[in-house]
Amino acid sequence: MAKRHSNGEVRARLTAAAKRAMKNAHAPYSKFKVGAALLTTTDKIFLGCNVENASYGMTNCAERTAIFSAVASLGPKIEIEAIAIVNDHNVACAPCGACRQVIYEFGPRAVIFYQGKKGPKQSLITDLLPEGFRLK
Ligand code: THU
Repeated sequence: MAKRHSNGEVRARLTAAAKRAMKNAHAPYSKFKVGAALLTTTDKIFLGCNVENASYGMTNCAERTAIFSAVASLGPKIEIEAIAIVNDHNVACAPCGACRQVIYEFGPRAVIFYQGKKGPKQSLITDLLPEGFRLK
């Protein structure tokens, strides 16, 4: 976490942004809207929501939408400092396995803010994804 912002400030800022993004979700099949907001180490925020498809497997999770948007805007050298995830059922929702691997690719030191089974949680990506895969 950058020293210029407290952990609580980053969580509040990202959670508010993720809630805004969640409203744009396309989730007619699961009826489970998800929003994500990430902060880069250069202090830029990017938003994502889940985008489902009638061919269910084509669905993109909110986390990956936010990450791909950041890469599309700023290029592949971005580093994710933190990412927050919210859902419209207010139930436990940690990033899925695929998203953990994608978060790790662009944020090997990232902090994840999410809803755990007993309330708000935060974890390092390396705790959610031990032994993440890297080619280099
Ligand atoms: N989903 C996300 O967007 N992020 C998560 O962390 C968990 C699941 C989406 C995928 C699908 O559109 C819906 O939630 C139900 O699985």
